[in-house]
Amino acid sequence: MTSTAEDNLIEKIKSLPLPQHVAIIMDGNGRWAAKRRLTRLKGHQAGAEAIRRTITAARNTGIHYLTLYAFSTENWKRPKTEISGLFNLMTRFLQKETPQMIKNNIRLLTIGDLSKIPEKPRKTLEDTIQKTSHCQDLTVIVALNYGSRQEIARAFERLLETKSEKDKNILPEDIEKFLYTSGIPDPELLIRTSGEMRLSNFLLWQISYAELYFTQTLWPDYNEVDFFNAVIDFQKRKRRFGGL
Ligand code: IPE
Ligand code: IPE
Ligand code: MG
Repeated sequence: MTSTAEDNLIEKIKSLPLPQHVAIIMDGNGRWAAKRRLTRLKGHQAGAEAIRRTITAARNTGIHYLTLYAFSTENWKRPKTEISGLFNLMTRFLQKETPQMIKNNIRLLTIGDLSKIPEKPRKTLEDTIQKTSHCQDLTVIVALNYGSRQEIARAFERLLETKSEKDKNILPEDIEKFLYTSGIPDPELLIRTSGEMRLSNFLLWQISYAELYFTQTLWPDYNEVDFFNAVIDFQKRKRRFGGL
């Protein structure tokens, strides 16, 4: 259930053109936990609740694609216990949420190299992807073992396999076809929480013309109203794409 204040924000959002695709760098779980003298894993647990709220908010606005950065190719540098804790959390989250996703017509997709993800979470992901493949209201794309440079290098590798010796011409559309996000519209809005103002190897190609939105809010504190406010801010911007 949404409150009247939230309903008013949703009405406001629906009266203006919506972004089709919003991407989020969910950052600040560890700092949220440290402030409370909790373990980092508790921060990630609270972050999972924020994911639930954000998916609900995105669905209520009518946005079609929501991409969430959950684990980067660089996050393997973290302690083994944190990594396994994160993947266990993800497995439990998916197992619990899948029936609700089907009910709410939410499809799950992933981007990134899943081959390196431990078997249990990988199988759970594949199961949810398969069970929600017919859902059409909102597509939630989870970036897992995702790195933008790796994605682009992989795209070139695959593109080259299709090319003959003589054909040296490469168009942006040719590269796009081999990105993980092929067929998905580029995000128009990129949000990063926790006050960090960097991209951390996320969707470098796809956000060429995205509007960037940074907030100090730590990810576990992120809620529906934060999401609505980011969309409303986006709707106020004048996007020129190099024109006048
Ligand atoms: C984001 O929170 C979650 C992941 C990267 C998995 P962090 O774990 O990066 O939290 P901080 O940045 O240390 O606060
Ligand atoms: C980016 O956050 C990756 C995810 C949110 C999954 P990090 O916390 O890993 O980024 P850096 O290390 O601060 O750049
Ligand atoms: Mg971080």
